Amino acid sequence: MSTPSTPPNLDKIISSLKAGTTKKILILTGAGLSTTSGLPDFRSPKSGLYAKLSPLQLPYPEALFHISYFKHTPEPFYAVARARHPGNAVPSLAHAFLSLLERKGVLRFVVTQNVDGLEGDAGVSKDKVLNVHGTWGTQRCLKCRAPYPDVKMKEAILAGEVPICDQDGCGGTVKPDIVMFGESLPEEFEDVERNILPEADLLLVMGTSLKVAPVSELPRKVGASVPRVLINNERVGDFGARDIDVLLLGGCDDGVREIARGLGWEEELEALHREAVERKEIIAREEGWNDKEEGPSLDECIAKAAEKMKMRMGVSEGHRRMLEGHLGEKLRGILKRDT
Ligand code: APR
Repeated sequence: MSTPSTPPNLDKIISSLKAGTTKKILILTGAGLSTTSGLPDFRSPKSGLYAKLSPLQLPYPEALFHISYFKHTPEPFYAVARARHPGNAVPSLAHAFLSLLERKGVLRFVVTQNVDGLEGDAGVSKDKVLNVHGTWGTQRCLKCRAPYPDVKMKEAILAGEVPICDQDGCGGTVKPDIVMFGESLPEEFEDVERNILPEADLLLVMGTSLKVAPVSELPRKVGASVPRVLINNERVGDFGARDIDVLLLGGCDDGVREIARGLGWEEELEALHREAVERKEIIAREEGWNDKEEGPSLDECIAKAAEKMKMRMGVSEGHRRMLEGHLGEKLRGILKRDT
């Protein structure tokens, strides 16, 4: 069953899954799960989103997703929104693997840092997934809190523009219901830590750099006797520190295929994946996300937003100078009268 490269402990995990002794898998995923769905991750050296943001002159890359920065400068967020929006993305084989584990009755829960909703698109039940950083599904005005129409949000995202609330006279900036840095995680996360994590009999971590707390602390909190499997391009967190850790370093899709092969589920996985892709392609067409023309590239969106911000800075710079000049006139005028 095992290939020469299969880590020894993986065989034990596959046997315990076959024997039905492992049946409460807790899964933690990140952006690496969706890169083969066409959504760039954040921190991969060349392809990650954060490696492309320099034209926007952000104070630091994560500012893009910080609520305080977003409130005064939402342009950068919407410049990259199109590249990160799941409208046109289809589930990866790894997303399909989550759904397969649920069908096999061994999936306890999925904690995902992703906001793309591809777990659900792959067929995982809603009550089995917690999007700790929210999802793109809905959006509302930051000022008056009114929900904002999906159709208008789609237009803004495709155009890379900042959507503005059209409630009478509001004019507030619209923000998707994702959890930004500086905002609190959903309460359900505490429930996962308190009630789900302690009963997990296997932790599977896929496609995350484990850089963002408190989610990044989960792997350290599983019981010492609970096997932990990492499927990731690189070693992250404290994986490897425990003798029973299993590190499948490489693509998420390759890693889940190796496990499915060991379990004799490979065909079923491929079929499930094909169905999920077809389903999502129909939805994308119905919602008009698979717009024919490619549209601007991520780099073009970033360059355009940088230009706009420079203009805006420039205008405010020019505006400031003009005001100073104008005010200077007024002040001199008043002084002249008074003197
Ligand atoms: N297969 C396996 N691993 C991959 C793949 C892939 N196809 N693609 C990328 N990776 C790995 C990268 O090597 C990296 O270790 O996935 C990890 C992705 O890490 P990040 O880009 O940091 O994404 P994530 O961990 O989800 O970031 C957490 O940070 O910026 C915030 O809110 C954002 O939710 C995000 C959070």
